[in-house]
Amino acid sequence: MEVNHTSDGAMIVDELIAQLQELQGQGSEAVAAAGNAEALDALRIEYLGRKGRLTGILRRLGELGADERPRVGAEANRVKDALSTLLDERAAAYAVAADTGPRVDLSLPGRARWTGQVHPVTLVIDEICEIFRDLGFSRVAGPEMETQTYNFSKLNIPLDHPAADMHDSFYLTDEVLLRTHTSPVQARVMEQFAPPIRVVVPGTVYRRDPFDASHAPAFEQVEGLAVDEGITFADFKATISAFVRRFFGNDAKTRFRPSYFPFTEPSAEVDVSCQICGGRGCSACKHTGWMEIMGAGMVHPNVFEAAGYDPERYTGYAFGMGPGRIAMQRYGIPDIRLLYESDMRFLGQF
Ligand code: PHE
Repeated sequence: MEVNHTSDGAMIVDELIAQLQELQGQGSEAVAAAGNAEALDALRIEYLGRKGRLTGILRRLGELGADERPRVGAEANRVKDALSTLLDERAAAYAVAADTGPRVDLSLPGRARWTGQVHPVTLVIDEICEIFRDLGFSRVAGPEMETQTYNFSKLNIPLDHPAADMHDSFYLTDEVLLRTHTSPVQARVMEQFAPPIRVVVPGTVYRRDPFDASHAPAFEQVEGLAVDEGITFADFKATISAFVRRFFGNDAKTRFRPSYFPFTEPSAEVDVSCQICGGRGCSACKHTGWMEIMGAGMVHPNVFEAAGYDPERYTGYAFGMGPGRIAMQRYGIPDIRLLYESDMRFLGQF
C-alpha cells in the first residue's frame, strides 16, 4: 500500500512537473508575443492569478504525500518566478517606450531653417539706385551727424528758417544735429568733385515728428543730384519721367507741381498716379488720384556758390524722395510703424 502510494505519487509528481514546465514554455512565448502593457496584465492574470493556470495545476498537490509536495512546490515557485520576471521586464520596456513616446513626436513639423529677408524699404532703395545707375548716377553716402552749416547754410536755408529750429530737429550740440534731410550730401559731393556730377544718396534722416501711422522720427530718403554745363529743366523732367516709368510701370503718369525749397529754383513736387487705385481716387491717395514721391527742382545758384561752383557756368537739378512712402504705396502698407517693428511675419511677405 505504502509502496503503491509512493509509485502513484511519483507518477503524479512527474506529471505535475511536466505540466509546470509546459506552462513556463507557453507563458514565455505568450509574454514575448504580447504587443502592449494591457496584454501583459492579462497574461499575468491568466498564468499567475489567484484563479490562474499555475494555481490550477497546484490544486492537485492535495493528491500527494507530504514528502512529495516540496519537489512540486519548488518547481512551481521556480516557474512562477521565471514568468513573473519575464512579465516585469517586458512591462518595464513598455513603460520606457510609453515615456519616451511624446519626446519623439514624429508628427511634429520639422524645424524650419530661419532665413533673413531684405527689408521692403531697402528693396525700394536698391531698385531706385539701380534705375539711376542705368541713367549714369553713382551711389554715394554722407554722414547722419551733420553740422548746421551743411544741413542748412550751404543749402541756402537761413538759420531762422523753421526747419533749423531746435524744436524741429535733433541737436547733438549747438552746431551739430542729426541731419533732417540728405540734401547736405549735395554740398559735400560738390566740394569734393568737379562737374559733371551724377549721384544718388540713400540714407536715414531725422526729424522731431510724432511716431504715428504716417510719420516716423527717423526715415529713409534718396537724394539725387545732376550738375553739368547746359542741364535744363527738360533734362530734369525727362529723367524723372523715365525713372517713374521704370519703377512704377509704363502706365504710371507723372505730374510736376510748383513748390518751394530754398535750395532749388524753380522747385517742384513730383506726383505719380496712385498705384493702389490707378488714379481713380482712394483712401490711400486721399481721393486725389496722385501720390507725392519727391521734392525736386533746379539747383539754386547760391548752393553752387557755397560749394565753389560757378553758377554762371553750371546748372543742374536735385531731388529727394521718400522710399518708405513709396514702399507703402507700392505694397499697400497702411501704417508706417509696420516698417520699424522688425516683425518677420510682416517683413517676410516682400
Ligand atoms: N530735402 C528736401 C526734403 O527733405 C527734398 C528735396 C531734395 C527737395 C532735393 C529739392 C531738392 O524735403
